[in-house]
Amino acid sequence: MGSRLRSIDWDEGKFRFIDQTKLPLELVLVETEDYKVLIDAIKKLKIRGAPAIGIAAGFGIYLGIKNFNGDDKEKLKVVFESVCDEFARTRPTAVNLFWAIDRMRKVFYENLHLEVNNLKDKLLNEALSIQREDIQMCRQIGLNGAKLIPDEAGILTHCNTGWLATGDYGTALGIIYTAFEQGKKIKVYVDETRPLLQGARLTTWELMQRGIETILITDNMSAYLMKLGKIDCVIVGADRVALNGDTANKIGTYNLAISAKYHNIPFYVACPTSSIDFNMKSGDEIPIEERGSDEIVEIMGKRIAPEGVKTFSPAFDVTPNHLITAIITELGIIYPPFEENIQKIKEENKSH
Ligand code: MRU
Repeated sequence: MGSRLRSIDWDEGKFRFIDQTKLPLELVLVETEDYKVLIDAIKKLKIRGAPAIGIAAGFGIYLGIKNFNGDDKEKLKVVFESVCDEFARTRPTAVNLFWAIDRMRKVFYENLHLEVNNLKDKLLNEALSIQREDIQMCRQIGLNGAKLIPDEAGILTHCNTGWLATGDYGTALGIIYTAFEQGKKIKVYVDETRPLLQGARLTTWELMQRGIETILITDNMSAYLMKLGKIDCVIVGADRVALNGDTANKIGTYNLAISAKYHNIPFYVACPTSSIDFNMKSGDEIPIEERGSDEIVEIMGKRIAPEGVKTFSPAFDVTPNHLITAIITELGIIYPPFEENIQKIKEENKSH
């Protein structure tokens, strides 16, 4: 899997990405050296998924200062900070974005004494490290999480958490891929994930390419499927996990967690530790992105609601910790009490 196409990649001085808004009907690859193209791609969800957004920001920040001429460090600082700010303003919820920006900032200021070209090289290396580490983290999440998947399991997932949303492999989908590679016969029920249909368009596409049994459902079917006994566990990704385990993820995740609790079905969150916000005590503090009404009144560009209707479009919701069975990270599986056990992971994280 390692050498095949990735959703975002660095190739001979250029950033390349799959335009995810065009999938699955068209596979469009975009190559660019212009960081503004990345800013636009993140805002429009051409590049999406918390880890992928973080990786893209790393390369984007490098591209933003790559063509800086001269050796005036004060001017360079101004350009660097303005590029970082532009990335920080693209999407507010996925903490991986801010985590990646912080990493790039740290490298920038620690190496400000170097010649400008050497400083640029350091930034590119950091972006490559963010990408490489994400791929390793996803692989490990897959191995850690696959232990929780019984043979012949019916698994319900939401949104897209696969190789498209990450450096490679995926988080929740990485677990599904690993369980499948281990020979487990699994069935994956995929929520379509309105409004932008990441489940129907992207997750089904990924799973079917791997030959995994894939059943697409609309978002309002999940509780009934649970009642029918078709779902053995729910696995979703995360855009930001607070210190108490409260988890922001694609809108609709909270509904699934409530239904899973009611039906006594394990509800797992899978994410790298880069999705944990170690500065945020609870999910109440997580900023929730609101998106435009066009995404609700239209489906794939076709209007479906009357002109003038009011809309409300939060892109994420927060699942409270008491509905979550476990959080699967590259460092291990975190069980409740999350307040205590996420702190422990934080201590381990310091040495990484
Ligand atoms: O709005 P999106 O498509 O970027 O939302 C993505 C999700 O909610 C994913 O579940 C999350 O980012 C984890 S991706 C590994």
